[in-house]
Order: sequence, then C-alpha cells, then structure tokens
Amino acid sequence: MAPGRNEDCWCGSKRKYKHCHHDIDNAPDDQKYETAQRVYSTNWTVTARKHSENGVYDWLASQLVSRAPKRILDIGCGSGHGLVAMREVLGNDVRIVAVDENRACLDSARDTLHRQGVAAQVVHRMTVSQTPTGFNHVAGPLSFDADSACTLIESDICNDPFLTSALLDSGQFDAVTIWLTGVHMLRQFNVNVMENDINSDATHRLYVQNAAYELADAVLHPGGILQVGDRGQTPDTPLLEADLLQAHSHQASVTSLEVKSLAHCPYNEPGQRRTPMVFTPGSAGLIPDKLELAIISVVSEKPQ
Ligand SMILES: C[S@@+](CC[C@H](N)C(=O)[O-])C[C@H]1O[C@@H](n2cnc3c(N)ncnc32)[C@H](O)[C@@H]1O
Repeated sequence: MAPGRNEDCWCGSKRKYKHCHHDIDNAPDDQKYETAQRVYSTNWTVTARKHSENGVYDWLASQLVSRAPKRILDIGCGSGHGLVAMREVLGNDVRIVAVDENRACLDSARDTLHRQGVAAQVVHRMTVSQTPTGFNHVAGPLSFDADSACTLIESDICNDPFLTSALLDSGQFDAVTIWLTGVHMLRQFNVNVMENDINSDATHRLYVQNAAYELADAVLHPGGILQVGDRGQTPDTPLLEADLLQAHSHQASVTSLEVKSLAHCPYNEPGQRRTPMVFTPGSAGLIPDKLELAIISVVSEKPQ
C-alpha cells in the first residue's frame, strides 16, 4: 500500500512521500519520466535557494575570477541560481550557454534569471518515449543564437550527437563548469543509462562528469578551464587531497586536460531533505566514519 502523503517515501530517500514518488506513482505511464523531472526540479529549486543564501554559488564562481572567463558553458544548470552567481561575481558581460537534460530545470532557470532581469533564450529539443524496459530521451538537431547573454539548452551531455558541433559553431569557451551533479528519480530507467550499467548515484556522477571532461576538451580553447564543483569530505590532509586529485586526474586522463588545482570551503547541508547530498569519495573510495563536509572545486586546464 502507498504511504500517506506526509509519511516517508517508500524509496528510502527519507523525503515525505508527497515530495518524492507520490506524483510519479500517480502519473500515467507515458508521463512518468517528465513527472520525475518536474518533481526533481521543484525539490532542487528549494535546495538551490538555500545554497544561494549560504554563499555556495558565490564561492564556486569566485574560484573562476583569476581566469576572467568571458564565455562559459555550464553543464547541468538546475534552477539557475549558479548562473545568477556567475553573472554577479564575474560581471554581467559574461556570456553563458547552459545545458540540462531536465526541461523543468531549464524552465526554472529561465524564471530565476528573469527575476534578475535577464531574458534567457531557451531551446527545448528533447522527446521522451517509452520502451518495453524504460524510457528513450532523444535530442533533435541544435542551433542557437550565440550572442544571447544566456542560452539554456535541453541536452543530455551523455547522449547528444548534435551538441559538440553546435557548441563549436557558436565559438570556443573560456570555461566549462559542472557544479553539484545529481539527477531525477527515473534517470535509472533511461535506456542509455541502463545500457551503460549505471546503477548507483556514485556511478551516475562519474558517468556525467566523465562526459563533462570530454565535452570540455572538445569545446575549450587552449588555456581554457574545466571546473568541477562537488560536495564531499573536506580534503584537509595531504592524503585526502592527493586522493581527490588522483580521482580527477584519472577522469581527465582520456582527454588533453591537466588537473591544476583544488580548493574547498566548509559546507553545511541545508536543513531540509529535498535533495540530500550525494557523497563524493576519492579514488580509494573511502567513506570516513565522521564526515566534515566541504564544497570542493577542482580546476583542470586545456594545454596551450
Ligand atoms: C544537483 S543539480 C545541480 C544544478 C546546478 N549545477 C547547481 O549547482 O545548482 C544537477 C543538475 O544536472 C542535471 N544533469 C544531470 N545529468 C545531466 C546530463 N547527463 N546532461 C545534462 N544535465 C544533467 C540535472 O538535471 C540537474 O539539473
């Protein structure tokens, strides 16, 4: 029997059922995937608002200041609170192209930017269909106005045959960012995810970040940077720092990118469980008994 709306969800997330699987369970089969995206977007927007108030996005954007990027590709923009911080910290003349596989997140990002007086161009181009075992989420051809202050593109960077060439047609980028990777509750039934044996939050995070390293390698100009922003154990000992750098060097090893620097700041989990943290272990995969949490920024550079 389904839990009551205010009881814990059956999935073990510790969210109330009404904030987790309620709407998905009650949606018609052919609308479940989009419903899961919408539920995720609503929950993430609540969490992101807290991160914004706590200065998480300002800190992540501040790590880019020394590079003064003028053209940024943001992967997985979520509710757009990070994009607002980029503009505030790096200047309103920065041009941003942001991608997200979740249409509801893109629409939320458009609204977040609109409240700041920024009119973003939104490109919807993906369709969802059911298969006997899951869902197909397929992207159509892509073209967009490269001069827009902010363009929000619907794209799954792990499965988009049109993305790289369309981005390159618009020009190379000074920086690529991917902050706080996470995904909606039915992503595990995406046929591409299933074909790649992605069956946990941790392997999904690597799946997306690996694709981000490869995309960054393709679209950055020489000297440009990729910044991965994550939540994890504070890397405050030489061992933990080396472990994390090694994990990212391993991800970068199939590209020309070179891992250059690691920085961190204290992180407090927002006092609600709408989108709880997915822990990011280093290469040794160790999960310590007591977590001292940090926001972590790892910057890699495309050689000149
Ligand atoms: C945890 S949210 C973080 C959003 C934003 N970067 C922030 O820090 O507030 C992760 C976002 O990445 C998006 N995402 C996950 N996998 C993706 C993929 N393969 N391609 C594009 N976007 C993806 C999700 O839809 C979600 O909006």
